Amino acid sequence: MLQVVQAIILAAGKSQRLKTGRTKLLEPINGQAMILYQTKLLEHLSVPTTLVVGYQKDLIQQLIIKEHGAKAFLFVEQFEQKGTGDALKCTQHLWLKDHILIMNGDVPLITEEVIELLHAKHLATNATITFITSHDEGNSGYGKVVRRENRIMIVERTDYQLQLQGESCCINAGIYLFKKSFLQAYIDKLIPNSLTGEYYITELIAIASGASLLVETVHVPFDRIRGINTQEELAATEQINRADIIRFWMEQGVRFIAPQNTYVDVMVKIGKGSTINPGVHLLGKTQIGEQVIIEPFAIINNSVIESKVFIKAHSVIEHSTIGQEATIGPFAFCRNNTHVATLGAIGSFVECKNAHIDIGSKAKHLSYLGDVSIGKGVNIGGGTIVANHNGVEKNPTVIQDNVYVGANSVLVAPVILEEKSFIAAGSTITNDVPKETLAIARSRQVNKLGYAVKLRSRKVKSIQALETDQILDGIDQQSQSTV
Ligand code: UD1
Ligand code: CA
Repeated sequence: MLQVVQAIILAAGKSQRLKTGRTKLLEPINGQAMILYQTKLLEHLSVPTTLVVGYQKDLIQQLIIKEHGAKAFLFVEQFEQKGTGDALKCTQHLWLKDHILIMNGDVPLITEEVIELLHAKHLATNATITFITSHDEGNSGYGKVVRRENRIMIVERTDYQLQLQGESCCINAGIYLFKKSFLQAYIDKLIPNSLTGEYYITELIAIASGASLLVETVHVPFDRIRGINTQEELAATEQINRADIIRFWMEQGVRFIAPQNTYVDVMVKIGKGSTINPGVHLLGKTQIGEQVIIEPFAIINNSVIESKVFIKAHSVIEHSTIGQEATIGPFAFCRNNTHVATLGAIGSFVECKNAHIDIGSKAKHLSYLGDVSIGKGVNIGGGTIVANHNGVEKNPTVIQDNVYVGANSVLVAPVILEEKSFIAAGSTITNDVPKETLAIARSRQVNKLGYAVKLRSRKVKSIQALETDQILDGIDQQSQSTV
């Protein structure tokens, strides 16, 4: 669509104001690195794009290649971080199209609509430069757009005191469309800022305007162009992005009980008619089916939840699949490729790790099910532990269809419980159990008739003896104090 355009993303900066000791461009915003919001947008618009990298360039390149493949983007290195103007100059040898779209790498809220507006105005007016502006939020981090006597320029925050007397209500968003011919003619005219020694891309606006070339602007809402320099700006931007994500899913028919207290990553998908309660975190590439209910404080990460599942409060599900109409929790933990099939029930304080649980099977209380394959219609009694680790290695357990495991059993892996077998409560199972067999693996009970009475009388005697001791102790202490 934007055929005459190529894009350059400035992504070499040191991110010093964020104070994390790492590049801000990889900082996750609702589960996706900041820079990917812009690379994905440009890829979607089919604009050939170059990234200027420098600080932590290997990390940025690795991520982009992992996400988009090795050929989707070109990279140019800015060896020394000498400012946005210098970063742009580093790409000079790659200016091929008639118009160059230049973007800071830290404006993840930008939308296709904003780029299209910029592009349309730039071409319609035949401007030399068109750039995005927004209203001034009173945030001193931005370059201010100043118009004086038919001239336009951008005054950077470092120069406010020198040049501004509160005359600007407009800021520069850091997103520009330049005619290539202008850049080729003027890029070498940039000189370092007298205070910082950096080359500012924004000086090109004053240069063009001073040469009586047409500079146009497109004004957009501040929330679409927020730049991220500080932790506060990062948190505010993430919050806005989160609200955008949740609004999108509300429009698809998802019910959020407290949208301001719900966390949904950008890659998550949610089916209509589902209800998401307060404190829920839906993370990574999680997919939620239709008519699912997720109670408060559940955390679901990179998992698939099929339709009509009921996830009760405080459950954690990671890298797992939950089949239709299953019930999970409260306080359940499903992880490492666990699969609970249709109508399964995993109850309170049950941990499933790499557990494959077939249709309609249930483990409702206080169990650990690790490296286990469980057939259909199985009932796992409360307190059952699959002992999958022998101190050296992990072993699998197989529980076939319609097995009944009594409460407080330990299944020592590797072990197979064949179909319809029955494990007596409190058993420690170390051998395979054949089909339809009752296995009891515990010591027999001994009943001693009348012995309870004897025990109680012993207890009464020992309490009396204790009381006598205490009285004697008291007398002793008194006599000592009167000596
Ligand atoms: C910049 C603009 C400012 C604008 C604001 C919008 C300049 C001089 N100022 O300021 O007018 O209001 O964006 O958010 O451009 N970068 C490099 N190499 C460098 C320095 C920076 O690649 O040597 C990259 C950074 O990684 C970042 C982008 O350029 O992605 C912008 O740099 P940043 O330091 O965030 O500029 P601002 O101070 O926000
Ligand atoms: Ca910035």
